[in-house]
Amino acid sequence: MHDDMKKLQEAADRVRQKLSSQPEIGMILGSGLGVLADEVEDPVLIPYGEIPHFPVSTVEGHAGQLVGGTLAGRQVLILQGRFHYYEGYSMKDVVFPVRVMKLLGISNLLVTNAAGGVNTSFSPGDLMVIADHIKFHDESPLRGPNLDAFGPRFNDLSAAYTPELQHLAVETAAQLGISIKAGVYAYMPGPSFETPAEIRMLRMLGADAVGMSTAPEVTAASHAGMRVLGISCITNMAAGILPQPLTHAEVMETGRQVRDVFSNLIRSILSGWEVSSA
Ligand code: HPA
Repeated sequence: MHDDMKKLQEAADRVRQKLSSQPEIGMILGSGLGVLADEVEDPVLIPYGEIPHFPVSTVEGHAGQLVGGTLAGRQVLILQGRFHYYEGYSMKDVVFPVRVMKLLGISNLLVTNAAGGVNTSFSPGDLMVIADHIKFHDESPLRGPNLDAFGPRFNDLSAAYTPELQHLAVETAAQLGISIKAGVYAYMPGPSFETPAEIRMLRMLGADAVGMSTAPEVTAASHAGMRVLGISCITNMAAGILPQPLTHAEVMETGRQVRDVFSNLIRSILSGWEVSSA
């Protein structure tokens, strides 16, 4: 067995021992949005440090634990605090938890993130269903020997963000009277926010939002045949659009302001989510 596969299996075995039920939906929560994990009923908390080979989170606003339990009537496993390439992790580390989820029998993944608005019709506080992403440089998490147990060497990303789940998100938001955008998420490696010229370039290329996460995890999830829903919280307008400087504090503050609306939306989406194994 490939060494990476062995490590993933060991990590999954440890998590399985600790969980009291089979999770249906995996969740990765972005900066300032981890509050949903605190709403899980009968939570089983598994600090990353207790899971063999699991990376450990360093960024402010990321708690660093798996949270298993019930949310909106669904069995969920939440990654409270994700791993970013800019922290120095390899792309393999960044997607490690997604692969562990797959080995635990999870075929449905909800990913959220904080993002800058590139589309000038967006405003801070908007939510955006991710229809697709642009990741045009950096190492792929799938580079290296293919892990055939997950999927094929040449993976099709044409529906990486599951169309029915995008539809579910839009419908659910409409029912709740929450306005929601849809668009393309551009992945940039960070940790600097982008330059104004990069943001103009991304807009010309068709991006609506920009952030430093998600695309690697979704690439690995797609490779593993998982159904994916991605939602961005537009926490700020991207560089060069407004006169004020960009700060992580603004990102966290906007995340905090929308978190009630956001967690209502996610709960309703979870209750309407038809879990089928992909
Ligand atoms: N750029 C990149 N990542 C981000 C931003 C941004 O403007 N806002 C939140 N995450």
